[in-house]
Amino acid sequence: MTRTIIKGLGSFLPDNVVTNSDLEKIMDTSDEWIQERTGIKERRWISNRSETTSSMGCKAAKKAMEMAGLGPSDIDFVIFATLSPDYYFPGSGVLVQRDLGLDNVGALDLRNQCSGFIYGLSVADQFIKTGMYKNILLIGSEFHSGALEKSTNGRSVTVIFGDGAGAVVLSAAEEGEKGIISTCMHSQGEHAEALMIKGPATGVWVDELLEKENYGEPEWRPYMNGNFVFKHAVTRMPEAIQEVLDAAGKSSADIDLLIPHQANLRISAMVQKHFNMSDEKVFNNIQHLGNTTAGSIPIAMTQAFEEGKLKRGDLLCLTAFGSGFTWGAALLEF
Ligand SMILES: CC(C)(COP(=O)(O)OP(=O)(O)OC[C@H]1O[C@@H](n2cnc3c(N)ncnc32)[C@H](O)[C@@H]1OP(=O)(O)O)[C@@H](O)C(=O)NCCC(=O)NCCS
Repeated sequence: MTRTIIKGLGSFLPDNVVTNSDLEKIMDTSDEWIQERTGIKERRWISNRSETTSSMGCKAAKKAMEMAGLGPSDIDFVIFATLSPDYYFPGSGVLVQRDLGLDNVGALDLRNQCSGFIYGLSVADQFIKTGMYKNILLIGSEFHSGALEKSTNGRSVTVIFGDGAGAVVLSAAEEGEKGIISTCMHSQGEHAEALMIKGPATGVWVDELLEKENYGEPEWRPYMNGNFVFKHAVTRMPEAIQEVLDAAGKSSADIDLLIPHQANLRISAMVQKHFNMSDEKVFNNIQHLGNTTAGSIPIAMTQAFEEGKLKRGDLLCLTAFGSGFTWGAALLEF
């Protein structure tokens, strides 16, 4: 069966840097609290609606296509992972097809939040392995800042999230290239309401929301049971890593670089400790970007590659956990 390789990668970040001290001015929080609990020093937030989820995705995708040496007519399929799409419908994948001038190829939107990139990687891998597609554009992009409540009421969620996009071009491997070795995907819907934005959706429609806001919490803001999410994340991510290692007949000592979804520096540290890995083998950039959800892994991969920390031939392990709950991992030779 054909293997899937990452032929190109790229990222895009809005220019506007929001530091913890900027947040101190608009809510009751402190740089000390945020850094101690999450490791985050600053994040990027789109200013004045200068970007959209799909426009950031397109910019990241262009860089990935350039690195892959591919043009619009070479792309056979688009997968767009996001929890913050441009529109309620249609999805953002079709906007990428339009704005990048791709042929009338299929465009699939994935709604798996922080695990969206891992899910997308696994889905793309199946299409390439079976020979259905040769080059797939996979994008993870989030425009969180528009929905965050920028006051003390929203502080436990707002300080964590940032905007940004990452993209990869996945292609059929040539002779001798290894690429994706194993992936896994999981979900546990009994905890769907532990991390969510309730509406507007068919469960709670716009007029209901407007009515409720007059006497209650606005339900279109993100809700997160932080402690509960944290406990599950530090259990599920190691489980998923072990699963992809076992499937490949490898051990954690074989991993050259681990890129965990950037949810919280303490979560990454606990995953690192679980496998007794050295600091050089685990890549984190949450300190400067916050949690960019579906964008976090491809943005981190791009940065690690640009900094020479991720090299061709490295055994790369990726893992994510998030709303749903959903989680997963991927093991690949980069
Ligand atoms: C959100 C998170 C950082 C909160 O850290 P925590 O140690 O669990 O803190 P708690 O929620 O218990 O809150 C502790 C106190 O800090 C307060 N607090 C919350 N946010 C605050 C902020 N931004 N600044 C200052 N104080 C804050 C709380 O009100 C609470 O005060 P209280 O004790 O007087 O009630 C942490 O739970 C977390 O990272 N969870 C996982 C999040 C995640 O990964 N989400 C994405 C999924 S991929």
